[in-house]
Amino acid sequence: MVRETSGRATSTLAAFRASILHYVDDPAAAGPRAFEHFEDGLLLVRDGRVAECGPATQILPKLPADVTHHDHSGRLIVPGFVDTHSHYVQTDIIASDGNSLLDWLTHHTYPAERAFSDARHAAEVAAFYCDELLRNGTTTVLAFASAQPVSVDALFASARERRMRLITGKVMMDRNCPDYLRDDATSSYTDSLALIERWHGVDRLAYAVTPRFAPTSTPAQMELAGRLFADHPGVYLQSHLAETRAETAWASELYPGARSYLDIYDRHGQLGARAVFAHCLWLDDADRSRMAATGAAMSFCPSSNLFLGSGLFDLERARAFGVRVGLGTDIGAGTSPSLLRTLADAYKVLRLNGQALTAHDGFYLGTLGGARSLYLDARIGNFEPGKEADFVVLDPQATPLLARRLAAATSLEERLFALMTLGDDRAVAETYLLGEPAWSRDGGGSS
Ligand code: GUN
Ligand code: ZN
Repeated sequence: MVRETSGRATSTLAAFRASILHYVDDPAAAGPRAFEHFEDGLLLVRDGRVAECGPATQILPKLPADVTHHDHSGRLIVPGFVDTHSHYVQTDIIASDGNSLLDWLTHHTYPAERAFSDARHAAEVAAFYCDELLRNGTTTVLAFASAQPVSVDALFASARERRMRLITGKVMMDRNCPDYLRDDATSSYTDSLALIERWHGVDRLAYAVTPRFAPTSTPAQMELAGRLFADHPGVYLQSHLAETRAETAWASELYPGARSYLDIYDRHGQLGARAVFAHCLWLDDADRSRMAATGAAMSFCPSSNLFLGSGLFDLERARAFGVRVGLGTDIGAGTSPSLLRTLADAYKVLRLNGQALTAHDGFYLGTLGGARSLYLDARIGNFEPGKEADFVVLDPQATPLLARRLAAATSLEERLFALMTLGDDRAVAETYLLGEPAWSRDGGGSS
């Protein structure tokens, strides 16, 4: 990459030519004004940030002669995918037959998470997981670690090494779980605090207070989780909410004074901007209204919901109340780290629920929608000038079937729909972080 000197500062300037698509708003609200598509586009990146994005013919004549050119003609560049819910510690139990959520947690999840007291194991899985995200075009993730603080250190370290945007935290869990994973209210508070001090705000990393879900925390632990969230501006909170009917009934039994499952989190100060709840299937409108009012987000995890038979997400209702919604893979109950595959499942889940998902809805959810639900849209999610240049180069010719289907497509919408329905990791030719190659299908990882 060229280093050009202007005054005393040295900067790098690189131009990426391809078909380029990004969102400036939610297509469900703003219609065709929500996206920009440049069939022959140019993304200009200066020092890891977007300098300009537009038609190649307009930008090329203005460029200095020594800018580095990357020609991706025939391919589609979109912003890096944002996964708003995942568990890196479940990488090795993906595709484990589980019967139902509570059975799957007992027989697969907890035993697998036990191994994360070993720092070497945690580091090895974290490295694999981060590479797998990049291979699938995911550049930002909000992920669960496990109850052991070393599991958090390992994931932060792996993401930092790769310069990924990553948010994670130590699972807080002091009841209704195996002894080998159980913490207590006080130790979970002090361990989380130490991790916030060590990692929050370092490079592209942020901390998430992580009560696993209300049934595995005592009221005392929930109180302290709420306090951590309130006392540390900018810190996230992540948990699970109303994933299955049985779990929702169990939560109500354990917290008999609460109006609803959501109200348990609310009473403990856990709602607000940067609070993200996975699933949100068994809610009522009062819950949706409260989530919208507090700025909390829902992570829609269709692959996981199908796999565990949990239920069907109601996107229309979430939109009607103005709740922020992102997309989550929920690895390892979700069966793919690919947000393209997750979108294919999202479409099917919504169809079963009598709802629609256009291709623009889908690509918005996987990019700017995710960034908005993480309150990161001032930094990532599209190609507005100044944003961090995280992006994916998609290959419409990735498989014979994709190539054949796309050859027959007559509009952008039809091409995008086929890409989200048939695409997966094979369609990701390259992934860039801050304008630098982070993964290439031909050459592997950069670290
Ligand atoms: N609810 C509580 N823990 C979990 C988990 O690890 N995965 C899923 N899908 N739901 C949960
Ligand atoms: Zn989950």
